[in-house]
Amino acid sequence: MPTESLTVTDNRTGATYELPIADGAIRASDLRQMRVDTDDFGLMSYDPAFLNTASTRSAITYIDGDRGILRYRGYPIDQLAERSTYLEVAYLLVHGELPTKEELAVWVDVITRHTFVHESMKRLMEAFRYDAHPMGMLISSVAALSTFYPEATRVDDAENRMLQTYRLIAKVPTIAAWAYRHNCGLPYVYPENDLGFTGNFLSMMFRMAEPRYSAHPVLERALEVLFILHADHEQNCSANAMRAIGSSRVDPYSALAGAAAALYGPLHGGANEEVLKMLAEIGDVRHVPAYIDRVKAGDFRLMGFGHRVYKNYDPRAKIIKATADSVFEVTGRNPLLDVALELERIALEDDYFVSRKLYPNVDFYSGLIYQALGLPVGMFPVMFAIPRTAGWLAQWLEGVVDPEQKIARPRQLYVGAAERDYVPMEDRSAVAVG
Ligand code: CMC
Repeated sequence: MPTESLTVTDNRTGATYELPIADGAIRASDLRQMRVDTDDFGLMSYDPAFLNTASTRSAITYIDGDRGILRYRGYPIDQLAERSTYLEVAYLLVHGELPTKEELAVWVDVITRHTFVHESMKRLMEAFRYDAHPMGMLISSVAALSTFYPEATRVDDAENRMLQTYRLIAKVPTIAAWAYRHNCGLPYVYPENDLGFTGNFLSMMFRMAEPRYSAHPVLERALEVLFILHADHEQNCSANAMRAIGSSRVDPYSALAGAAAALYGPLHGGANEEVLKMLAEIGDVRHVPAYIDRVKAGDFRLMGFGHRVYKNYDPRAKIIKATADSVFEVTGRNPLLDVALELERIALEDDYFVSRKLYPNVDFYSGLIYQALGLPVGMFPVMFAIPRTAGWLAQWLEGVVDPEQKIARPRQLYVGAAERDYVPMEDRSAVAVG
């Protein structure tokens, strides 16, 4: 008998079972031995939204939601945000260790040399409507990348997987910037190989007639910090999508397009866009109490508040708030900051939010920074997707070689009609369908 185990008595049959516990978990499949008779499929656990189900073993990101801890490969997020660069963090996520100087130089060089996309990609993006949402453009364009790299389907080949990893980390910012330029009706700007990752991105976004675009170093660093903070977040909705789609052994471009689609939703990466819309709607600190009352009445949620995992505070939100201050020193104070601060102040004192452990999350202040950088709200989820690409790839790379990984295929509890005979059209009566 294992030293760590769970004894379960099935009161339907009186039978007792010993279930081993490993890493603080029982195996859901161990429940299947509990049957009422030989025809019984066996007991399942029902866990919509995976509230208490570990879907994988992972060595990438650690979160302790109660204590507000986030670490990538063991390194605390605040140390990485203070001392690292986005590409160094991307290396860490993908390879598991911080790079040496030489390793980082090679990694940066390879990523930089993959920033260009095929000219047909440009023509494909030009076909979008002038006002297409940039996230829709990003998702479709990333999916389209798979058609340029048919060898990417060889997901069992380690070298090939790494080549697609370089390409995706490098090309997503190019596509993202071009989506923005498309909305502006401006010519797409090609990557500059002698600029850094964020400097190059800002150049592709904002360069006009000048021969060379130089981003303000404070703004460039702020973006770097935001990219570091958004690089991974363990098994969130989009990472779960990446792993689930990847488990079918499809190429990583198709899987990443699916992950980006999951990120787009307002409850996930789309929340930063919703926060800014909310702040603009409130408009003035005097309207904050009335807005809070409506949230408490259940009319809508306070966007940028609450988290499935963090029940103390979101450590990323703290760093972002400090980053916002440094950005506003350069760009001038965003007038909506006062509304955000007042919203936070009142919410943190209010029993509705305190009792539900609702604190500002990563999306609460990031949008204000993006707006200060001159970005339209539609670009906010795109700004989340750029750095999360490294996290999605790290999750995918880990999953693809996991000997326990099989195609993701949850069970269901069927609650529909029992078998019934087909009804001819003339014998049917109208039934209200939702
Ligand atoms: N405003 C008001 N009430 C809230 C909020 C909110 N933002 N979030 C949760 N609640 C309430 C909810 O109504 C429920 O109350 P009750 O127990 O009375 O029914 C309680 O808190 C628990 O909520 P839940 O929906 O069970 O919590 P969850 O873990 O399923 O949801 C969440 C997590 C992030 C989806 C949710 O807090 C939310 O919708 N927040 C607003 C959207 C947002 O900011 N999303 C960004 C998340 S962080 C970045 C990312 O993941 O991309």
